Amino acid sequence: MAKTHVKMKMNGAEVEGLVEPRMLLVHFIREDLQLTGTHIGCETTHCGACTVDLDGMSVKSCTMFAVQADGADIATIEGVANPDGTLSALQEGFRMMHGLQCGFCTPGMIIRAQRLLRENPSPSEEEIRFGISGNLCRCTGYQNIVRAIQYAAAKVNGAEFKEAAE
Ligand code: FES
Ligand code: FES
Repeated sequence: MAKTHVKMKMNGAEVEGLVEPRMLLVHFIREDLQLTGTHIGCETTHCGACTVDLDGMSVKSCTMFAVQADGADIATIEGVANPDGTLSALQEGFRMMHGLQCGFCTPGMIIRAQRLLRENPSPSEEEIRFGISGNLCRCTGYQNIVRAIQYAAAKVNGAEFKEAAE
């Protein structure tokens, strides 16, 4: 099958490749670019494990063809840490609040939460739960994921993280 040349920005760096029109964006990211932090769970737009940030939106990369991302500006979990290599507020939040167990959902969850906090730096618990409703986690019961995002929001806002009373 004829291949198409695509070029895009990935975590700040220009990348390019030759792809078949049927190649999904997540396969281009994982197989051609070797950025395997973006996971594949369902390949049917349900689980959110493949979530990336694309031109300022959370996108399930199993739901797009790589050719559709030509010219896009994309961020994956590999680009989430601070420039000096230290953990971002969200990564720290997931670590401190035990926001993961198997970790399979975590890259997509963190990428989604990063966009959520950019759109709404002080979300309520309800807004967090709604904001991550496209990302499924089979392990944690979500409670610690919500706390991790609240931790990150407090840190980004220079506030002290206070856990809500149970
Ligand atoms: S792998 Fe894309 S939503 Fe599940
Ligand atoms: S930590 Fe296992 S799926 Fe979320």
